[in-house]
Amino acid sequence: MKKLLIQNATVATSTGVFNGDVLVEGETIAAVGQNLPAKGATVINATGEVLLPGGVDAHTHFDLDVGFTRASDDFYTGSVAAAHGGTTTIIDHMAFGPAGCRLTHQVGVYHQLAKDCVIDYALHGVIQHVDEQVLEDMALLRDEEGITSHKVYLTYADMLNDAEVLAVLQRAKQLGVTVCAHCENDAIVNSLRAQFVASGKTAAKYHPLSRPAEAEAEAIFRFLSLAKAAGEAKVYVVHLSTALGLQAIALQRAAGQQNIFAETCPQYLLLNDALYDDPAEGLKYLMSPPLRKTADEAMLWAGLQTGEIDTIGTDHCPFLLHPQKQRGKDDFTQAPNGAPGVELRMPLLFSEGYKKGRLTLPEVVRTCCTRPAEIFGIAPQKGDIQVGADADLVLFNPDEEWTVTHADLHENVDYTPYEGMQLCGKPVLTIARGQVIVKNGKFTGAAGRGKYLHRHV
Ligand code: URP
Ligand code: ZN
Repeated sequence: MKKLLIQNATVATSTGVFNGDVLVEGETIAAVGQNLPAKGATVINATGEVLLPGGVDAHTHFDLDVGFTRASDDFYTGSVAAAHGGTTTIIDHMAFGPAGCRLTHQVGVYHQLAKDCVIDYALHGVIQHVDEQVLEDMALLRDEEGITSHKVYLTYADMLNDAEVLAVLQRAKQLGVTVCAHCENDAIVNSLRAQFVASGKTAAKYHPLSRPAEAEAEAIFRFLSLAKAAGEAKVYVVHLSTALGLQAIALQRAAGQQNIFAETCPQYLLLNDALYDDPAEGLKYLMSPPLRKTADEAMLWAGLQTGEIDTIGTDHCPFLLHPQKQRGKDDFTQAPNGAPGVELRMPLLFSEGYKKGRLTLPEVVRTCCTRPAEIFGIAPQKGDIQVGADADLVLFNPDEEWTVTHADLHENVDYTPYEGMQLCGKPVLTIARGQVIVKNGKFTGAAGRGKYLHRHV
């Protein structure tokens, strides 16, 4: 069996940091410790470098079909980009299928879309209407496909009403599966959008004004209340962006509600709504929820520090600035919503989290790798450095200073929201199930090597 010895690294796990070695045999981690025997192994001298588990990004939208266009990264380009940034597993949110389709419909579509994925992947289901068949299919997907989480939207055309969300949560509770929710109050968002457009306020700067913090916080509180009424169903709030929303989560947890999990994203930690001021540039940041205030950024970092926020996903959903985002140049409501981020999540958290002293290395590991794997049923196989786990690893040069430039990235999109940002620490080697798939910026993996992850509750 092929052996790989990563020697003398600063090894960061979810529980600590130590100087030592990691021995890989075949696809798994065979030993973790000091002075491990090198006999028969290819040795990687990692002196001065930091070894982390491969990242687990539980929120991507590769090849997302939004009706009038598709996200510009497919499963091949998106996963190659992820690998360059040290992410070795994604859990993709499937797009809505045809109106009225069974829950099973999109699964077949997505196995085909993901056939060239270069890293391991799992899928979240999406519930776009509720009837007996859909509730039955939740069991079928759990048992036959290992799909143990589903997303509901509280806004957008395929949103569910409260009674439908409650029915989904009650069924999820029975089955032990997780319900993820995009939480924004649809009435607030759609009324404000319509009012802005009617009064000619169509520039990008009206996007955040049409989706105020209260819209997020109200929807989170309502979603959590419905989960409580369903017997404390297991719920996961995606892309938390506001201090107010975080307070809603903290309030319900303080009241004793169990099984609540929350995710934020790098864009809500590092960017703010001043970026909408320039109408042309502002198109880049048309995403939902929108970028918020600097005070929100600070509270989200604090939420990660206290553990009130569990995970960091990207909501990677890229559209080309030219031409796709230009659809919104005369009316922000017409642009496809979303932005890229899958390649930079781990580097951003290493640099702006760990190197800037906002998070410890184990906190970076927990939020970017371990907790998403645990919450979504792919741990202990994924998400940490431990004997028996998949050998998914990323080695960082912790002192390399670099400037983010979209042309140097591998995401299939003509911009990055982080253009010009100075980062410290860069991934130099990515290993996925024992195979080196990126070395010094060169992709060495192969299309289709990624494995579908059948999950368990
Ligand atoms: O604007 C965003 N986030 N687009 C992706 C789809 C979604 O809402 O998660
Ligand atoms: Zn999303």
